[in-house]
Amino acid sequence: MTDDRRQRHLVDLDNRRPELADELFGTLADMQARCPVAWSEASGGFWALLKHADVVTASADWETFTVTEGIMIPPTGKSMPVIPAELDPPRHGAFRKLVLPHFTPKALGPWEADIRRIVADGFAPLAERGRADLVTEFARPVPVLVICRILGIRSDWERIHSLGEEFMEAFADTEHPERGRAAAQRLEAFLAEEIAARRGRPAEDLLGQLVNAEIEGETLSDVEALGLVQLLVVAGHGTTVDGIGTMVYRLLTEPDVRDRLLTDRSLVPKMIEECLRLHPPVWNMARTVRRETTLRDAELCPGEKVMLAFGAANHDPDKFDDPFAFDLDRPGLTQHLTFGSGRHRCLGEGLARLELRTVLEYLLDELPALELDGPVVWGGHTNSHGLRSLPVRFAAGGEPATVRIQEGGDV
Ligand code: HEM
Repeated sequence: MTDDRRQRHLVDLDNRRPELADELFGTLADMQARCPVAWSEASGGFWALLKHADVVTASADWETFTVTEGIMIPPTGKSMPVIPAELDPPRHGAFRKLVLPHFTPKALGPWEADIRRIVADGFAPLAERGRADLVTEFARPVPVLVICRILGIRSDWERIHSLGEEFMEAFADTEHPERGRAAAQRLEAFLAEEIAARRGRPAEDLLGQLVNAEIEGETLSDVEALGLVQLLVVAGHGTTVDGIGTMVYRLLTEPDVRDRLLTDRSLVPKMIEECLRLHPPVWNMARTVRRETTLRDAELCPGEKVMLAFGAANHDPDKFDDPFAFDLDRPGLTQHLTFGSGRHRCLGEGLARLELRTVLEYLLDELPALELDGPVVWGGHTNSHGLRSLPVRFAAGGEPATVRIQEGGDV
């Protein structure tokens, strides 16, 4: 292994730097143009795949790029795998088969009325004020309330939300592994109680169905049940909040787009996809090289970490014309990698889209004159990106929100 093998691809990319959040996608695009397969010395060293085609190739090839050594850069200090995200085939496929039927658009249909109610109820206490922070006060509770409703967890959302947030933050904080372990233990203890209350009993909710399920004639082990429930509970928290925040930000800063949406609701799915492409809440995930391989002119060796840089791939000019332009009419709107690609593609993408659609339709119906009310704050962790604050103003009071149920539509 020569040093030159990596040095020829060297870039300055440290995903732990908080300042990166302000300039993330521009920085990644510059790197992509200079060095599509890049080597960074940060976090113990990793390859960054910046082109759309390379991220798709690596995501499809689990025999070369495994998830079993962890999916975060830098690696986390947690003691058990998150399931199915850190499983390779064939076990991975068995877990997908178990969970996926509950998260298809058809299976989610009956939850739509509940989600509309959660969104309307969330806005109700803010309505009289005429001002709010759309991220911290409105968006934050939505995904946790929704997933708990679907799974059947009845504890108060604030407790689960703070357990989940602490867990995700600690998950990315490798400087302080003891903090990560403590946060993981707190979430695990809470979920272990929820699981124990359902194990071996007739299932009354989705959580009960999942923890009593069998794979190849065997019930899930305690570690498997916990790893699965943990991921289902936390995977959509910050990600969906970030998705809501940037979508509303775009709504408020693209007046022509808003005018079109106000007169033509069939554009809502296109709006969601273009926002997801431009602002992927998860801008990278990791793999580990299992066998020697060559990507473009880079030789990758076993044991090396690989970053799948969705945030660069979504702005790849070889895939999307004029990639930084906001364009509801661009061809291939859904071909972004915001939900990943291949066998680990997001299991909750249908749910995330439903939540985004519900919020967007609510705002278009009830608050058509919503306006930005001050500077926004961008932020992120090692693989997440989004708005930490989005101040808005609107006409205070008014008619109480109506809950509309509409059929979902694909782009
Ligand atoms: C806008 C919101 C969301 C974004 C941007 C997002 C993003 C992602 C990405 C990029 C992956 C692929 C990881 C990889 O390739 O290693 C993933 C996987 C996953 N997501 Fe999401 N996600 C979102 C919402 C949700 C929700 C609401 C759920 C709840 C059910 C969820 C559950 C999962 C699960 C279980 C996996 C692992 C799938 C597997 O390994 O087979 N996600 N997500």
